[in-house]
Amino acid sequence: MTAPVLPRSVGTPLARVDAREKVMGQARYAYEHHAEGMAYCHPVQATIASGEVQDVDASEALACEGVLAVIWAENAPALGDAGDDELALFQSRSVAYRGQIVGAVVAESLEIARDAAGLVRVAYDERPHDVMLRAEHPELYAPEKVNPSFPNETGRGDPDGAIAAAAVSVDETFTTPAFHNNPMEPHATVAVWEHGGLTLYDSTQGASGVASTIAKLFELEPAQVRVISPHVGGGFGSKGLPRPSVVLAAIAARVVERAVKVATTRQQMFAYTGYRTPTIQRLRLAADAEGRLQAISHEASEQTSRLKEYAEQTAICSRWMYAAPNRRTAHRLVALDVPTPSWLRAPGECPGMYALESAMDELAVAAGVDPIELRIANEPEVHPENGSRFSSRNLVACLRQGAERFGWERRGEPGGRRDGRWLHGMGVAASTYPAYQMPSQAAVRIRHDGGYVVRIAAADIGTGARTALTQIAADALEVPLEQVVVRIGDSGFPRASVAGGSSGTASWGTAIVLACRALREQLAEHGGEVPADGLEATAGTAEFLKSREQLARYAFGAQFADVRVDASSGEVRVSRMLGVFAAGRIINPRTARSQLIGGMTMGISMALHEESVMDAAYGDFVNKDLAQYHIAACADIEQIDAHWIDETDDELNPMGSKGIGEIGIVGTAAAVANAVFNATGRRVRDLPIRLDRVLAS
Ligand code: MOS
Repeated sequence: MTAPVLPRSVGTPLARVDAREKVMGQARYAYEHHAEGMAYCHPVQATIASGEVQDVDASEALACEGVLAVIWAENAPALGDAGDDELALFQSRSVAYRGQIVGAVVAESLEIARDAAGLVRVAYDERPHDVMLRAEHPELYAPEKVNPSFPNETGRGDPDGAIAAAAVSVDETFTTPAFHNNPMEPHATVAVWEHGGLTLYDSTQGASGVASTIAKLFELEPAQVRVISPHVGGGFGSKGLPRPSVVLAAIAARVVERAVKVATTRQQMFAYTGYRTPTIQRLRLAADAEGRLQAISHEASEQTSRLKEYAEQTAICSRWMYAAPNRRTAHRLVALDVPTPSWLRAPGECPGMYALESAMDELAVAAGVDPIELRIANEPEVHPENGSRFSSRNLVACLRQGAERFGWERRGEPGGRRDGRWLHGMGVAASTYPAYQMPSQAAVRIRHDGGYVVRIAAADIGTGARTALTQIAADALEVPLEQVVVRIGDSGFPRASVAGGSSGTASWGTAIVLACRALREQLAEHGGEVPADGLEATAGTAEFLKSREQLARYAFGAQFADVRVDASSGEVRVSRMLGVFAAGRIINPRTARSQLIGGMTMGISMALHEESVMDAAYGDFVNKDLAQYHIAACADIEQIDAHWIDETDDELNPMGSKGIGEIGIVGTAAAVANAVFNATGRRVRDLPIRLDRVLAS
């Protein structure tokens, strides 16, 4: 390729290309799509946690004016098998969790449907339920793999022996509660059976994936299902896989033979759109007198449902964060009468790093070493388990730069800084996230007038992906941004991977760069002349991904928290938070900063506020709305900032980028908890760090 003649767009803080559309209210979200003769569907949810639906009395609901149908196991269409029983709506009478969809009302309006759903009488055969994860649960077992396909257990040397013999050791248990995804836009779908197929306007992180799954369920050819999702109001993982709500819309539309809308309520988000599993994690660390790690053992217990095995990868970061000759990671899982846990921003890495990075802080205290120096002293040369070279690893630079920017030298002894009623303290924790890339395809077309249109079934769930991809395409084409339009959010476009695993921009950007290169070659073959009907090139990344060397590819970061704790009430406030990250080339500093501080904000929320409370007798989460499930608000976030170091890594992709969507939340909670310890001398090992826990510890 010739050298770029234009200033490069990648690396510049371009405002979102869809900013105007969004603030003008012109950007259409799933529920805002309309079709002729729209009907509305509202689910009936199980009021038992385990058992069978014995019978459904729909007479009262059907008597309501405007009700079109009541659907349940006895009258619903049969579905194909998509390998996920959460999606097998009405295919059996069994109830796997309280809140599961067991029926639905379709009506002329949303209000009628919702009202009538409350009139459907469901009789159950109820069985006793078990909804509580506990460390000694007799049914804990070892899953073969953890999400998405990591081995459950890894080990090396003799961690038990090393721990028993160590000069300094930590052996503590940390717990995290269930957390629920709460994107601003709850899941919504408009389903339209038309042209011999199904069109779904859906709020999803992956149009291609939804189309494939829905095609299997309705036994259609993949091309007969089209999923359209140009704008998505957040997901955090909850929209990474198709949810029961999209299946419900398609079923309802088939039953009433009209277009149907389904709008998931906030309360329903706490039932069937996924959540972060609670965890119980035992961390054992052993070190010599200087703080050099001799052993790391990380054992996690977590839950799944009776419908599907979802085993979260809680302990995986302990496989590559620090050097130690003796090591062990393992996961145990128990199937309970609960909804199936799923992805929530950095599934596994986030709760796992809370435990590891809290334990590292405890080790620093036990060894009398500064926690930053402790981490630096245990930097591995290569991946500690498999010996792979790191494509780049700049954790030390993040720690050092962060310490300087944050004023780490002002940190005192635990409980040593008091100002009136407030105890002040600082904490640090490391962050990490794998630099994933998944196979994707893209097409790019040049029109006769010289304008370019890129098409890819990618998703912008609020991250700014559409903007970053426009920058990547403009640079690859070596044309001004104004000449490029990137169209995403349509499964009719070349197949793209999910907006998940912080892999979107890297995966889709690579496909776009390859397609742009192919188009430029075609254009060169035409002597630079665009034919009257334009030119188009498509490319996929499967070969590129296969050709890459096996390397350890991860992003790293360091997070610093400055907290104040009310000495009498135990109230914790985060006065300042700083993250410094090493995440490859930053495509757009403006949207990247927003991703990073967004992740950190969610991490503060996890540390102090969020907790889905399971009631053992009732058999469900009890705080199912935003009044009772506390999420950090603006008033909870005082000073927060993110920086990154310039990291050049040629072994990633043509952009040199790593993902940034998830690393911001990894380690945040530990940084806050470690700061609470530094402020008070009290160690809270159970999230969230509530007032009562600070006072009791
Ligand atoms: Mo994200 S939890 O990988 O969608």
